[in-house]
Amino acid sequence: MPHFEEGTTLDRFLLETMRAHPGATGQLVTLLKQVALAGKLVSARVQRAGLAGMLGAVGGMNIQGEFVQKLDLYANETFKRALEHAGVLCMIVSEEDDGIIQIPPQFEVGEYVFSMDPLDGSSNIDTNASIGTIFAVHRRFSTGRDGVAADVLRRGRELICAGYVIYGAGSMMVLSTGEGVHGFTLDPSVGEFFLSHRDIRLAPDTRAYSCNEAYSAQWDPRLQAWIASLKDPSLGWSARYIGSLVGDFHRNLVKGGVFLYPPTAKAKRGKLRMLYEAQPLAFLAEAAGGAASDGVMPILDKLPTELHERTPLFIGNRDAVARIVEVLGS
Ligand code: AHG
Ligand code: MN
Ligand code: MN
Repeated sequence: MPHFEEGTTLDRFLLETMRAHPGATGQLVTLLKQVALAGKLVSARVQRAGLAGMLGAVGGMNIQGEFVQKLDLYANETFKRALEHAGVLCMIVSEEDDGIIQIPPQFEVGEYVFSMDPLDGSSNIDTNASIGTIFAVHRRFSTGRDGVAADVLRRGRELICAGYVIYGAGSMMVLSTGEGVHGFTLDPSVGEFFLSHRDIRLAPDTRAYSCNEAYSAQWDPRLQAWIASLKDPSLGWSARYIGSLVGDFHRNLVKGGVFLYPPTAKAKRGKLRMLYEAQPLAFLAEAAGGAASDGVMPILDKLPTELHERTPLFIGNRDAVARIVEVLGS
């Protein structure tokens, strides 16, 4: 792993990481540079959403039964347009599209499969709270022109790369190709992402939990009891919940913490999606020394069978996730 000093641009980081992998074709570098471009475009639009008539819903509903926000669609189209012509993908899966998105016939296909939540935290778009784009990259193994579902319905442990772009007070791109987790902050005045958080490690200990406590009466009673036990003042825990997975995850990644989205009466298999929320963030959490579980097994060991499959998610500090699994198994 080459040494990178602060101020390294994302492009230099990607090129030097590629050089450290003989036989690399450069397709992944091209892919991630296009992700960064799309991230800059969405970031610019998010920053001025209130001015550009981009707030609010378009009045439609997606497969998830959620009102589609204008920024959801803008982000979805922007990432697809930035990626489909680059000759590095054989298919795309998006939260906003019911089925597999094939690469248009006029473009070359490549060896990677891209899954994305183009805009995570839609309920926060109009509130200026952190939202983001979450993505995961597999290497295909099918051989035809078009990718197939089997290329993406795989364990998260097989991911080549995962990351997110968070549009918050500043915009950052956080990614891992398996060797550590690195954060790049966008300097909008020059339009470049600069390395600002090298080798982010999830704090070994934690005293912060993130969950939507409004649903706690619907949780497994053993989990209710555990969360209640954290409220002993002598333990010094605090609660932090933004309601955007990407924002809650990022805070826990950089400051320590554990995020919980257990099954509820409305979401019996959990609310969050395997392919473009749980798997990519679990890949990052483990690469940063943390953990991610569905309450029984590691997220990265689960085999999804449907594109928009949901899962319970407990993710963040390793000890806290282990404790939750122990509590739910007791
Ligand atoms: P999305 O906006 O992509 O549909 O994701 C929303 C998710 C996730 O961002 C967040 O953790 C969760 O919904 C919040 O759910 P509740 O509002 O039920 O707490
Ligand atoms: Mn989401
Ligand atoms: Mn979304």
